[in-house]
Amino acid sequence: MIVLGIETSCDETAAAVIRCDEGGVGEILSDVVLSQIEVHRPFGGIVPEVAARAHLEFADHVVKQAMEQAGLNFDQLDAVAATGGPGLIGGVIVGVMTAKAIAAAHSIPFVAVNHLEGHALTARLTNQVGFPYLLLLVSGGHSQLLIVRGVGDYTRLGTTIDDAVGEAFDKSAKLLGLGYPGGPPIEAAAKNGDATRFSLPRPLRGKPGCHFSFSGLKAAVKRTIDALPPGELQAQDVNDMAASFQTAVADVIGDRTRRAIQEFRDQCPHGTALVVAGGVAANTALRTKLEFVTKIEQMRLIAPPPHLCTDNGAMIAWTGIEHLKLGHTDSLNFAPRPRWPLDPNAPKAAGAGVKA
Ligand code: KG4
Ligand code: ZN
Repeated sequence: MIVLGIETSCDETAAAVIRCDEGGVGEILSDVVLSQIEVHRPFGGIVPEVAARAHLEFADHVVKQAMEQAGLNFDQLDAVAATGGPGLIGGVIVGVMTAKAIAAAHSIPFVAVNHLEGHALTARLTNQVGFPYLLLLVSGGHSQLLIVRGVGDYTRLGTTIDDAVGEAFDKSAKLLGLGYPGGPPIEAAAKNGDATRFSLPRPLRGKPGCHFSFSGLKAAVKRTIDALPPGELQAQDVNDMAASFQTAVADVIGDRTRRAIQEFRDQCPHGTALVVAGGVAANTALRTKLEFVTKIEQMRLIAPPPHLCTDNGAMIAWTGIEHLKLGHTDSLNFAPRPRWPLDPNAPKAAGAGVKA
C-alpha cells in the first residue's frame, strides 16, 4: 500500500510518500517539509492569512518533490491523504483541495486525516507500538494527554485550560528578546542558566486531574523580568530565566503525566507505553523529566525522532494508511474542519480559551 500525505494546517507545507508492507511496517519513501518560519519571523508569530498564501504558492511544488524523491507517479498511489483539520482553515483548505484534485484526476481514494491523529499514530510508524498507549502531545497549538485505544478511538485525560505549552515557550521567548519560534533559543539559553535563580510557579502541579495551565507561568516570567533593575536584560538574566522557565514547564508536565499514567493504568491495565509527540517533545529537559517519570512508573517511553514529532507529511500519509487498512475513505465533498477534537465526548475543561 502506497500513500501520499499532505500537511498544510499550520506553518509547514509538507508532503511525504509512505509504503506499508503486508506485515504492517511502514517505510518513508520521501518526506519533504518546507518551513514558513522565515516568512512569519518578522511578525513574531504565525499570521494565518500569510500562511494560507504561502501554502497556496508552494503546495504543488512540495508534492511534486515528494513524488520525485519517491520515484513514483500518481498512478502508482493507492490513496492520497491530507490534513482535514484542526488547524488554520486557509491552509487546511489548500491541502484538502490539492489532495482532492489528485484523487479526482487519478481515480484514487481520498482520506481526510485529523492532524492530531497524525501526531498520535506516528509512533506506530517509527516504533510499531501496539494499542493501547498513553500519548502526551505538546506542540505550539496543543497540550493534551490522551489514551490511544485504536485508530479513531481516543480518550482525552487532560488538555490545557489556557495556553498551549509551545505558545508559552514562544511568548516567554519574546519577553526575553529571543525571537520566534521560542522553544529552541530558550533551550539553548537554558544550557548556560541557573534554574534556581528565579522562583516561578508550577500551575496545577499536585492538583487532581490531568489538565495543564501555562498562562500564569508566562505572566510570572513577565512580572519577574519587570522587577529586574531597569535597563537592558543582561545575557545572564536571560539564561537564568530560560532555565527557570524550562524547569518549571518540565516539572508541571512531569506531574500531569504521572497522574495520567495512573489513570491510564486504571483504564488499560495492559498498556505499557507513553508516547510523546509535538514540537515541544524535541526539548531535552522535558525528555529527561519524562525518562525519570516513566522509569519510576515502569513504563516504556517512546519519542519519535524530532523531525517526525514536528509537523510533517509522513504522519499524514501513515494515518491515511491506517484508515485505508480499515476501509475508511472520505468523499470529495469532505468539508475542512477548523476544530476536530480527537475525543468528541471529552468534558469541557474549566478555564478560559479552552483548546479542543
Ligand atoms: O508541533 P509543532 O512543530 O507545530 C505545531 O504547533 O503544530 O510545534 C511547534 C512548537 C513551537 O511553539 C516551538 O517553540 C516548540 O514547538 N518547540 C520547542 C522546541 N522546539 C520546538 N519547545 C521547546 N523546546 C524545543 N527544543
Ligand atoms: Zn502539529
